[in-house]
Amino acid sequence: MANSTEQAAIFITNLDEAKDAYRQKALKQGLYDAGEVVMSGVLVNLHGDEHRSRRRLENRLFRKETLEFYENELFPDVISETLDPHVEVGRAELVTLSHQLMMNLAALNAGVDRPLRTPQETLRLYQQMMKLIEGATLVHSRRDPAEVSAEVREALGDFDSEFVTPSIQRRTELIQRHVAGEIDESSLPRDVLSVLLRNEDDLKIPRDVLVREIGFFLLAGAHTSATAFTRSTHNILEWLAAHPEDQAKLDDRRWVQGCVHETVRLYPSSPTGVRWALEDVVLRSGRHIPAGSKVVIDLVAVNRDPAIFGDDAGDFNPYRQVPAEGVGPYGLSFGHGMHACIGQELAAGIIPADQAGTQLFGVVTVAVMALLERGARADPDEAPSVDSSTQRPYWSRYPVVFTGRSRPHRPTVLPPSTTSVVPVI
Ligand code: HEM
Repeated sequence: MANSTEQAAIFITNLDEAKDAYRQKALKQGLYDAGEVVMSGVLVNLHGDEHRSRRRLENRLFRKETLEFYENELFPDVISETLDPHVEVGRAELVTLSHQLMMNLAALNAGVDRPLRTPQETLRLYQQMMKLIEGATLVHSRRDPAEVSAEVREALGDFDSEFVTPSIQRRTELIQRHVAGEIDESSLPRDVLSVLLRNEDDLKIPRDVLVREIGFFLLAGAHTSATAFTRSTHNILEWLAAHPEDQAKLDDRRWVQGCVHETVRLYPSSPTGVRWALEDVVLRSGRHIPAGSKVVIDLVAVNRDPAIFGDDAGDFNPYRQVPAEGVGPYGLSFGHGMHACIGQELAAGIIPADQAGTQLFGVVTVAVMALLERGARADPDEAPSVDSSTQRPYWSRYPVVFTGRSRPHRPTVLPPSTTSVVPVI
């Protein structure tokens, strides 16, 4: 097995080499090796034909019409239902709230029903999802890996019996009724689980892999968007504290979307991409990657390259112009090549090539706007705190109050991102 070979990792810090490496078929996913307990057999860990055929099917869920349906019809009510109880209380803690909110949205996309419709049931799902996140990021844990793996296995079992099994039953019945001509296509749920069940015969996914795949879509969709949501909110509040003349920009969805993209560029959910070389590879730059090497793509360095993003590449600047052709405003934070994020447009939206095209803003922008429209401000009585258990720039708590837009905001400094090799979602 290539990854058992002991040799120094090869670091890539340059955009062109990074894109080239992401496209190489002989470089295999290596980011989730330690998180096998929950990541084994899921899309992002597949390679070659197996990856291609599952990805082709799941791509159907991420077509523009479906994303429009999510953004305009399905998500607004869920966002209100999640935020408004906190607005009534007058305060919230964003790290938890963002995960609850994004879990509620990701559950719709993944196909995870909550049959009982009780707050306790949602709490159970939240606890299970947070445990799956702990499993996926196991390499970074300070806890005993065997103990964490046992807890994750138990959480997966509960997730299966409490959520996946009833979700499969409901969808199977609907699919049978559709096949019998009793209901039409539009009555079927538009989610990953339905797509997989409808194509069960082609894919032949074992039951345990199916459970992990749905768990992966839930945690990948929720955790990445939740961290982007809290960081974007922070950056916008900081910017408005320093630039009060921009207050009215909060009504401009394009401006807020630019802030989200800029935040995602500065703080990629995954600070690195990792690959193993299955055979010798020579990049277009001429760089030689010997078989068995570990390749680490340093996304923070790539995304802050002054040659591409300008001299202030390390700063948050909502007015940054989209850089050179072939580079998104969020740099390579959504990856590139065969494993490029399937949820990129769901999270970050679509900017049309011309004025006539429909713009989508993405779930992070829509949710950040909903929060700020409700007058969220950093809590004057409790400063946000940084998560010291990780080298990643995570907040552990981000208390906010809902007081209307005119309250002054007290600036707080988020530590610079690090490039430590930690797993990711
Ligand atoms: C700000 C939000 C997000 C960021 C920054 C992000 C980032 C990434 C990155 C960097 C990868 C590539 C990993 C690699 O090549 O090793 C990836 C893959 C993936 N992401 Fe996202 N993601 C985000 C949101 C989402 C959402 C909302 C979903 C839910 C649908 C999602 C589902 C996935 C899946 C399923 C893959 C694997 C794709 C494949 O292997 O073919 N992501 N994401």
